[in-house]
Parts: sequence; C-alpha cells; structure tokens
Amino acid sequence: MSELMNGWKRTCYCTELSKADVGREVTLMGWTNVRRDLGALIFVQLRDRTGLMQVVFNSSTLSEEDYQRASTIRSEYVLAIRGKLVERTGNMVNPDMKTGDVEVLVSEFKILSQSETPPIDVDDNCNANELLRLKYRYLDLRRPCMQRNLIMRHQIANCAHDYFNSNGFIEIETPILTGSTPEGARDYLVPSRIRAGAFYALPQSPQLFKQILMVSGYDKYMQIARCFRDEDLRADRQPDFTQIDLEMSFVEADDVMTVNEGFLKRVFKETLNVDVQLPLPRIKWIDAMNRYGSDKPDTRFGLELKDITSAVSNSEFAVFKNAIAAGGSVRAINVKGHGADFSRKEIDALGEFVKTYRAKGLAWMNFKDEGLVSSIAKFLSEDEINEIKRLTDAQTGDLLLIVADKNDVVWASLGALRCRIADKLNLIAEHQYNLLWVTEFPLLEWSEEANRFVAMHHPFTMPMDEDLDKLDSDPGAVRAKAYDIVLNGVEIGGGSIRIHSAPLQEKMFSVLGFTKEEAWKRFGFLLDAFRFGTPPHGGMAYGLDRVAMLICGTPSIRDVIAFPKVQNASCPLTNAPYGVDPKQLNELHIRCVEEKE
Ligand code: AMO
Ligand code: AMP
Repeated sequence: MSELMNGWKRTCYCTELSKADVGREVTLMGWTNVRRDLGALIFVQLRDRTGLMQVVFNSSTLSEEDYQRASTIRSEYVLAIRGKLVERTGNMVNPDMKTGDVEVLVSEFKILSQSETPPIDVDDNCNANELLRLKYRYLDLRRPCMQRNLIMRHQIANCAHDYFNSNGFIEIETPILTGSTPEGARDYLVPSRIRAGAFYALPQSPQLFKQILMVSGYDKYMQIARCFRDEDLRADRQPDFTQIDLEMSFVEADDVMTVNEGFLKRVFKETLNVDVQLPLPRIKWIDAMNRYGSDKPDTRFGLELKDITSAVSNSEFAVFKNAIAAGGSVRAINVKGHGADFSRKEIDALGEFVKTYRAKGLAWMNFKDEGLVSSIAKFLSEDEINEIKRLTDAQTGDLLLIVADKNDVVWASLGALRCRIADKLNLIAEHQYNLLWVTEFPLLEWSEEANRFVAMHHPFTMPMDEDLDKLDSDPGAVRAKAYDIVLNGVEIGGGSIRIHSAPLQEKMFSVLGFTKEEAWKRFGFLLDAFRFGTPPHGGMAYGLDRVAMLICGTPSIRDVIAFPKVQNASCPLTNAPYGVDPKQLNELHIRCVEEKE
C-alpha cells in the first residue's frame, strides 16, 4: 500500500549530510538502493539524486508493527524516513560512500510507493544491453552515472544562458513548424491538415530565422534550439538534437571566435575545473587535411601525415605512378619506434581497415634492426627509399604506412588510420581537452552524386574576400569565412560570416545549381529581407549533445540525452514512430502506399 506524504517535508538531500550534522533530526526521501535484513536490524541504502545514505531500522526502537512494515521494503521502493543522524565508527565506516561515516536511525517512515523487481540493475555496474536500458529508460536514468551526465548537461546549458546573457545576447525562440532550413540532411516533414498536400519541415537549425533576426536589429541572439535531421544515426548523431545557437551583427570572424572562446573557457572551468588557455589554436582547413587527414583533427597525439609524392614521382611502382598521374598524392604515417609492435597480420588488418575508406591498399615499410622489410621495397630504388626516409624522418624501429590515391581518399584513410593506431598504442592521455579552430574551409565541395557543387557548410556562408572573383572561374578554389570548433577530434560546433546582400546570395544559389525561380520559391523571404537594410552578421552553433558527451567522457551522445533514439531512428521507450489511425491520415489528406513484401 502506498502511503501519502501527509505534510512530511524533506529536510535535505542524502549527501548534504556529514559528520558535522550528527545529532540532527532529518527527513529524507528517496529510493531503496540496497536492503540488508540482519534479523533485528534492517539496513537500507537510500538513494536520491545526490547519492546515498545508510538508514537503519532497529527492531528494539521501532514498534513491532513498524518493524514488520520495514521488513517488506525491497529494491526501488520509495521511502520517506525520519530519524536522527548518528556517527558510524570503526569498521562500520564505509570509505566507498560519500556519507559512509554517518547513518540515520529511523524513528518514523512511510513507504510512499512499492516497486516490482526491476528488469535492469539500477547501479553503475549495470551490464544490461542498451536496448533494454532504453526500454526501461526511467530506471536507467536513476543510475548515478546517468544522473551525473544529465546534471552536467544542465550545467553546460545553464552556463550558455548565463555567459551569453551577460555578454548582451537575447534569447529568442524560433519555430519548430517551419519551412525547410537546409543543413545538408533530409527534412522531417509534418503534413498540413488545413492545406491538403502541403507540409511543414522541422528545422535542421534556426539558421534562416536567426539571420532574419539580425535584419530585424536584435544584434545578438542566442537560443538553446532543438534541431531535426533525417540522417543516419551514429554515436555522435541523433535525428533530434540540440544546438547552442547564436548570431551577432556588425562582426567579423575574429569577433565571433573571441566571444566563443570566452564561453568555452567558462564551460570547462565550471564543469571540469579545467583551465583552457586562450587564444585557442587555429589551423587552416588545408593544413588540417595535410597534417591530420581530417577537418576535425585530434591533436592529442602526433602521427602526422607526411607527403612523399616528390620522393616517388618517377617511381616504377604502378600504384604510385598512376595515383600521381591522376592528380593524387602519396602520403605516409610514421609510427615512430613502434615498428616491432606490428605483426605482419596486424599490418594486413590495417590494410583492410583503410579499404573501408576507399583506399585500394596500404603499402608499408618496416625499418627493422635487421634491415628494411616492406611490401614495396622491390619497386623502389635506393635513392627513393632514402628520400622517403628523409621526408618522414624514418629511422630504425619505425614503421611507415603509405597510401597513394586521390587526395580525399588519402586524407580520409590515413586520417582514420592515425586515430586507430593512437588507440591501439594508447597514445591518448585521459582528461586532455584539445580545442582548436579550423578555418578557411572550401566554400563548396563537388558532389559526384549530384554532379554539381554543394555548400560545404550551408548556402548562406560568405566567401573570403580575396577569393570572390573565383566564384565563376574556379568555384572549387573559393574559401569561406567559416570556422569549426573541434574538441579531441570531434566537431562540436561551427559557424561563419554570412552573405548579407541579395545579389551575392542569389549568385551563391546559382553556383549551387538552383534556378532563379527555385531559389526565390524556397528562400525568397530571405532574399526579400536582404533588400531592406541588412547588417553584416555571423554566428555559430554548438552541438550541445556532443559538448556534453565529451565533457562527461562518454562514448555516445545517447548517454547525455534523456530519451534518445536508436539506430533505426525509433524510440525504444515509446515505440515511436508507429502507424496511426486511418481517420487521422484522412484528415491529413494522406494515403499510404502499402509496404511491399
Ligand atoms: P552545423 O550543421 O555544423 O551548423 O551544426 C552545428 C553543430 O551541431 C552538431 N550537430 C549534431 N549533433 C548531433 N546530432 C546531429 N545529427 C548533429 N548535426 C549537427 C555538431 C555541429 O558542429 N546553422 C549552422 C550553424 C551556423 O552556421 O551558425 C549549423 O547548423 O556539433
Ligand atoms: P601489389 O603489387 O598489388 O602486391 O601491391 C604492393 C603493395 O602495395 C601492397 O602492400 C598493397 O597493399 C599496396 N597498395 C596497393 N594499392 C595501394 C595504394 N593505392 N596505396 C598504397 N599502397 C597500395
């Protein structure tokens, strides 16, 4: 039977009590974490969101009826207890518990709610599979580590509100039911009941609205914004996620970055007590690609890429010759001093690994004590080998891993390989937070699939002044006033200075392959707005989930989202998405095509 509160008030949370409070009469409320029945004594670890407190039911001080009631308490029962805080001494002290040197002697208690045996363990050692945890998310979220994660996330969001507010930003909400705001993913559509055949799109970001707010003179905007993108899920991607979004008027890239460095410094101090050194390092996109093979480089370890194209440009080795002739390159990673750590079999496995990044193979040179062992030595002259050694600083004990291909394949495969090797060799120190800006991104990238240029960030990004004249002649070479913020190899945010003139914005749409009519149909409101006095403006957005994931030190953003979706974009708790009543579909003017077997 569940009892009622009947005016009982909690005096404090479990872990707010310490030895200094001994003698106090307290009222605690929470869940039964563990119960031990010793016959004449029953020990319960009571759990609330701050942690645990041992409470003791004593048969010699409680009435027989109360003691009988206490003996029915089981895991996850919800209790309210009153009693005196006493000290635990000698071997009664539990050094593993924050409140291990005190306990409450219960004088009165209520069983506010009972619980069936939970289907997953409500503790940090729970090893239930994730799907089961997500089905019983309400139990999973009781676990201390999950509570820590969500509280940490709250602190980050709170810090964002606080910091941007104190820097003159105004929080403004933008609509969820809206038109498409393209960020490169598929839209989630919502059918209109009023207008048959018409659809809202859920925003992929507040991008267009925040730019309009700049036209409206709000000057500095921020929002913790929900965003929706129908794309494949990954450990750092959800269809439904949250941005810390901001926009500023009358600024250049430097101004936006400086304000945000202040924010990052504050977040790291407040959540992890880590002092971030400012200004943050900056690296140009092309240098990030050349050195790390990635536009989100993890700089916690070396293993940088070395270009050895010049050493093998006259090589007889067809693989190298062909790659170079096709405009590609040959690059290497020097796994310094670790050549002996890699067996032939392991190197072959790395060869298979790079193939998942479209590399056709992995050449290697192992500089062993007894001499060079290599998959390609037979194709190389003495001079070529010496030049490769010079360019890569290779010495005895080193292993070179080499890929030849188009640049984007070489970068992607060696970029991924260096992370994999760092992992294998444990080169990454724990609790290191390497933040850096990546700047001067290409404005456009060629899409083989669409057979046209697509925006690398989004179509509203301003080209760099010195590249403006190349927009017609050599669009692929135009760089953008864009910047990404990267933490330990994860892109946690990005932004840009925007185009703020209608003619340039129209030109951009045309470079992206929109006809004038299409551009006006979809973005006419923005082009229109630009006709009425638009300040130069720019901004950025962080993925709050990703920031929280890295600060909490978890491997997946699902661990910092209360109710995340799984691989097939469904919610295991509610079972959404599901079929709906035909009547509802009728109202929405929708007829479903029968699914083919
Ligand atoms: P962008 O598309 O780079 O930029 O998104 C900004 C940040 O949002 C996070 N993010 C995601 N997090 C979880 N799941 C996803 N599916 C997901 N997609 C993106 C990333 C990313 O860096 N409007 C622009 C910002 C701007 O220009 O101001 C935008 O949305 O951490
Ligand atoms: P083969 O002559 O085909 O046996 O290749 C010799 C070595 O070159 C093998 O170790 C292959 O894995 C490697 N290899 C093949 N294609 C490439 C490539 N595109 N880049 C680097 N190495 C390659």
